[in-house]
Amino acid sequence: MKFTRLTSGVVLAATVIGLGASVAGAQETLRGLAEERGRYVGSILNSQWFSGGLPGNYEETQKREFNAVVCENEMKFDATEPSQNNFNFNNGDRMVKYAKQNGMRARGHALAWHSQVPNWVNSHKNKQELLGILKNHIEKTVGHFKGQIDEWDVVNEAVNDNDPHDWRATATNSRPGSVWFDNIGAEFLDSAFVWTHRVDPDAELCYNDYNLEQGIGEGSKAGFVLKQVKRWKEMGIPITCVGSQTHVEDTTTAPEFNGAAENLRAFAKELAKLGVKLNITELDIGIKSGMPVDAAALARQGHFYRQFMDVFLEEPNMGEFVIWGVSDKWSWLGGLNRQAGLIFNDNLQKKPAYDSLIASLKAHAPETVFNPYKDDFTKLDSIAKADSIAKADSVAKAVADSIAKANPVVEDTSKQIEPIAPADSTEVLLSRAYGVFGVKVSGRTLNISGDASAKVQVFDMQGRPVFSDKAVKGSVSLATVPNGIYMVRVTSGTSSLVRRIALK
Ligand code: XIL
Repeated sequence: MKFTRLTSGVVLAATVIGLGASVAGAQETLRGLAEERGRYVGSILNSQWFSGGLPGNYEETQKREFNAVVCENEMKFDATEPSQNNFNFNNGDRMVKYAKQNGMRARGHALAWHSQVPNWVNSHKNKQELLGILKNHIEKTVGHFKGQIDEWDVVNEAVNDNDPHDWRATATNSRPGSVWFDNIGAEFLDSAFVWTHRVDPDAELCYNDYNLEQGIGEGSKAGFVLKQVKRWKEMGIPITCVGSQTHVEDTTTAPEFNGAAENLRAFAKELAKLGVKLNITELDIGIKSGMPVDAAALARQGHFYRQFMDVFLEEPNMGEFVIWGVSDKWSWLGGLNRQAGLIFNDNLQKKPAYDSLIASLKAHAPETVFNPYKDDFTKLDSIAKADSIAKADSVAKAVADSIAKANPVVEDTSKQIEPIAPADSTEVLLSRAYGVFGVKVSGRTLNISGDASAKVQVFDMQGRPVFSDKAVKGSVSLATVPNGIYMVRVTSGTSSLVRRIALK
């Protein structure tokens, strides 16, 4: 597949034309939509699943909605090597079997981590001994699962939490230290990647951590990781991906979270330059304990889920979007003083966040989503350059013509979840073809340039209509629409334009 403006424009036309059919069609699932786009949406198999403590609809939901899976705890060091050189892979074997039976990508989590290591490891202090212990653990574990785990978290959470960031060292009151770094030094990371790669050269190898969605600027954790990835690539250390755990809190209680998805986009772009993927590996968007989990909170949570999915689909070097759990009922979040962070509620019913993810996937037509497992995202620049303006113009015309032919202007949509097209390239193509309108928000006013009268529809991030005006010329007030992030669609005659707006 070629990822060019060219294909994205043509497919937009197809999406718009197919609107009616997709609403009435077979049930859509996250998994189905992700597969069409060459991407993985995943979740954990909760520890309770392994002990048979979960209702049947848990597994049914897990299989129906996800095409990637990871054990919550069962492949960590303390579970796989409870005493020295005595390995227990029973639960890991169950996970890889489950993944295989259900056609899922399997993640291995995690090889070198300071947490959930057994006491017998922590009692060692000698560098050579610990190097030997880690090497043996990696060789036996990766060897056992060779060919069955698609991607390993080789090192987890090795960076400390405070600025200046550095490798996590000796324990503090609030945070444990790392037995690996404290006794071996930074070479434990380099070695872990090399040992893993030697045993299973086909597996993807990730560095995984939290708080990486907080920006890549000076003093940031992601900035530190980026420097290390650069160094690793220069040294030939076989890292292929960074995992951003992305355990975040709903915005009212953490205002700085607002930019999280865009921060990941910036991080992904930097990693792409190094030929490294960025995956979302443990997403949950918790609401602070004690805060109401009401309709407003759930809608807000949905907005944020959608922002992450939008970025995920738009960045060519992102491959997996993994949520840390299926249902709120068995989520680990209570321990973080958070609640209700997942996309299915206690009864395994879909939450607004689920609808948000579906809306985002549908808004990104399959041919506009790059498949980093099939095509080389490091070549994208040259592909983009080769895609000349002239070509773009001719495609713009084709898009506009097919939209005109199909007359896609949809009448009242009050109860439907509509697919919404992504902005950017499509928008450029359409406005280039017609020169009819541009859309700008200033305060609560939406300004539309162009002569014709246009229909304006505003949708929330779950794809639900929140505002509509059939005949707008010049500008329209959106004073009735609450603050938030929305998609606006402007339709004039037979052409339409979609873009994302923020009302503050
Ligand atoms: C959590 C599990 O969900 C809990 O059941 C367990 O008690 C602690 O670990 N970062 C990680 C995951 O990499 O392994 C953690 O999982 C959550 C934070």
